[in-house]
Amino acid sequence: MHILGVDIGGSGIKGAIVDTVTGELVSERIRIETPQPATPEAVGLTVKDLAQRHAWTGPIGIGFPAAIQHGIARTAANVDKTFIGLSIAELFSSQTGCPVYVANDADVAGIAEMRFGAGKANTGVVLIVTIGTGLGTALFTNGQLLPNTELGHIYLDNGIEAERFASEATKNAEELKWKQWGVRFNHYLSTMEALLWPDLVILGGGASAKLEKFAELLTIQAPIVAARFLNQAGIVGAALYAETQIKN
Ligand code: BGC
Repeated sequence: MHILGVDIGGSGIKGAIVDTVTGELVSERIRIETPQPATPEAVGLTVKDLAQRHAWTGPIGIGFPAAIQHGIARTAANVDKTFIGLSIAELFSSQTGCPVYVANDADVAGIAEMRFGAGKANTGVVLIVTIGTGLGTALFTNGQLLPNTELGHIYLDNGIEAERFASEATKNAEELKWKQWGVRFNHYLSTMEALLWPDLVILGGGASAKLEKFAELLTIQAPIVAARFLNQAGIVGAALYAETQIKN
């Protein structure tokens, strides 16, 4: 099945048509700057623009940076607060004229990695951490997702919220070198390990392509690997998520 996968982020909205049988992109990947302010209306129009640029009228899967319960946003850490309580799926469906399915961005990235990528066939506890404007998490056991874990928002023992301490946005804002940031990120992963004891940790988002720059600073026991899809996991996973909803 072909589905338009869309990854909505704090700085860019990216989309491509995905073949859900192979997990491959079958169109070019288009990136549009996230409109500012990123109101629901404006973001929906950007998704419509993406669909039109792909000449797409079929189903759309979306990874969105918030806890999403049955298509409704429950949080809005790095997006406009007016998303809270809104059925994103309904609004974007009416704006685009396409059936739209929405889930948390880290969860859908995890779905892609568990199906085709670094977590394929892993039946243990797998933690995916996406590093970007925020810190996103997805947690799987026996290949099953526990949706909407918001573990980037825990407070570390230094009293700082993890995503304020160790996201890529913080690295950029504080102009941290990879090594300085890596020590912080290790603090976060060590906290996660002490709470969850994953068998495998998969890193996604922009920083996952630079794992070699900070890998030596990571001291947890669990193996750590970069997402196979790097920062395209969100697009692929959004399409895979939509497919599961269409089949249900
Ligand atoms: C949001 C999560 C999201 C993560 C990555 C966090 O600020 O609360 O829902 O998965 O950022 O985008």
